[in-house]
Amino acid sequence: ATRPIIAVDGPAAAGKGTLARRLATELGVPYLDTGLLYRAVGRRVLDSGADPADPAAAEAVARALTAEDLVRPGLRAPDTDGAASRVAAMPAVRALLLDFQRNFGRDHGAVLDGRDIGTVVFPAAPVKLYVTASAEARAHRRWLERQSRGESVALEAVAAEMAARDARDAGRDAAPMKPAEDAVLLDTTTLDAEAAFAAAMAVVRAKL
Ligand code: C5P
Repeated sequence: ATRPIIAVDGPAAAGKGTLARRLATELGVPYLDTGLLYRAVGRRVLDSGADPADPAAAEAVARALTAEDLVRPGLRAPDTDGAASRVAAMPAVRALLLDFQRNFGRDHGAVLDGRDIGTVVFPAAPVKLYVTASAEARAHRRWLERQSRGESVALEAVAAEMAARDARDAGRDAAPMKPAEDAVLLDTTTLDAEAAFAAAMAVVRAKL
C-alpha cells in the first residue's frame, strides 16, 4: 500500500509513542499521538475549573478544541492523565474527536497511537500493533520519566495511578482499550527501544 495506516494501541507507558514516532519516520508518513487529543480536552476542562467527570463541560471543550490546545503546557502533568482518561470514557467526546483522527490519516497514510485505533478509528488498517509490557516495567518507565522531569514521586504512587487509569480505559463501554482481533501483540517488557522497533518493522514488512 502506498498510504499505509499503522495502528499502535496499548496501555500507558508500554512504549507506544517512541515506537510509533520511529515507525512514522522510517516509513515517511505523519505521526499522530491521539492521546494528546484527550489530554487537551482534559487539561482545558481542569483549567476552566470544571469537573472532568462532567460530560457537559467535557463535550463543550471537545467541540471547541483547536490546534493550539495541543501545544498548551501541562498536557503531560499527572492531573492531566486522570482527566484525559475521564473525558475519554464519554461517547460524545470520542465522537467529536473521530473525524480529526480519520482525516489525519486519509491522504498520506499515518502512524497513529492510542487505545482504539485498530478497533474503532481505523478498523481496516493493514498493520495493527498492540504494544504491552508488564505493569512493573511500565510503572518503572513512567517513574523514570517523572524523575527526569524533576518531579519527585514514589514508584508505588505511579504504579497505582497507572493501574487505575488502565482499568478505567479497559473497562469503559465506549471504545474500550483492547487488542483488535487482527492485531499483533508486541510485549516490550524485556525489549529496549531499538529491539521493539526491529520487531515492529518485521511485522510491518510482513503486512504491507
Ligand atoms: O496515550 P496517553 O496516555 O497520552 O492517553 C491519555 C488518555 O487518553 C488515556 O488514558 C485514554 O483514556 C485516552 N485515550 C483514548 N483513546 C485513544 C488515546 C487515548 O481513550 N485513542
